[in-house]
This record gives sequence, structure tokens and C-alpha cells, in this order.
Amino acid sequence: MGATKDMHEAEPTRRDFIHILAGTTAVVGAAGVAVPLIHQMNPDASVLALSTKEVDLSALEVGQAIKVMWQGKPVFIRRRTAEEIKSVEETPVSALKDGKARNANVAANDDAEDKNRVIKPDYIVVVGVCTHLGCVPLGTSQGEVRGDFGGWFCPCHGSHYDNAGRIRKGPAPENLQVPKYQFVADTTIRIG
Ligand code: FES
Repeated sequence: MGATKDMHEAEPTRRDFIHILAGTTAVVGAAGVAVPLIHQMNPDASVLALSTKEVDLSALEVGQAIKVMWQGKPVFIRRRTAEEIKSVEETPVSALKDGKARNANVAANDDAEDKNRVIKPDYIVVVGVCTHLGCVPLGTSQGEVRGDFGGWFCPCHGSHYDNAGRIRKGPAPENLQVPKYQFVADTTIRIG
């Protein structure tokens, strides 16, 4: 009797068989679903093109600035004059309201020295969204007020940024963000 019972327990019962069958189907089904999901997670060229933006700066003259849109946000690019570069390079970090670089291209704890805000000193590239409550600061278009530090001015509550996009006066708590970008040619950048 005991031997019969042991043999019976060793063999899969009909119910076990149904469970095994169901489990196999589930694994096959999961594998079948996984492939299209993985495909969807690989961004194709059109998605990558939307997430990055190339900007030709060859027509930008010294002292001029432009605004481009990237991922729905304005990005300011200014070709700085020698005086503007000298002024921001000579500003000690101790004089800044926000001592952090806020630059996606450098380490998070790098300080806000001008060299940590730019790739080439001639060009400052910043996201044009005030770090106070998100207004778009003035100072990019010809003739717009640029604030007490010559960079950008946010009229919403009076925040003044310098020519490295660093907050110098007013309620904004942080420097303008420097987006991830690189030079892909001498005067062409790719943002993103
Ligand atoms: S949103 Fe710019 S100062 Fe308030």
C-alpha cells in the first residue's frame, strides 16, 4: 500500500499536468510579449532626432545671442565679447548666489566658475527658463533689457543673471541650467 502511494506521488497527477501546461504557455506568452516591448524601448532615429538639436552658430556675431527651441524649452546661446568673458571669469565664486555649476556636462559638485559653465569661452549656452518660477528671461533679442549684470533679466519678479547665466540678484535660487551639448564642428553644437 505504502509503495503504491509513493509511486502515485512520484508521478504527476492530471492536475499537475494542467499546471505544467499552463506554466509553459505563460512562459511562451511572456517571451512573445517581451520582443515587441524591447523593440519599443529602442528609440529609433526619428526619436533621437527629436531629443537632440544641432545649431549652426557660424552666422552668430560677437555680442549677438539667439534663442532656439529644444525639447519644448527655449535655449539661449550668446557669443560673448572679450569684455563679457573677462567680467564673468574674474567674478569669484564667493560673490555668487548659487555656487554650483548647474551644468549637465560637468560633475554635479563642480563650482560655478565660468570655466565650468562653458565648453568654449566664446559661447554661453543655457536653458532659458528662470529658476524662480519658470518665466523666460529677457536679454536674448536685440534691444531687450539684460539686467544689472549684462546677461539676462527675468521681469516676472526681477531676477538678474550674468553672462555666464548665473543668478546674481533677485529671487531666483539657482543659475540657469546648462543643457547637455557638444561641439560637433567648430561652430556647430548638438544640444541633447
Ligand atoms: S520667475 Fe523669474 S524672477 Fe520669478
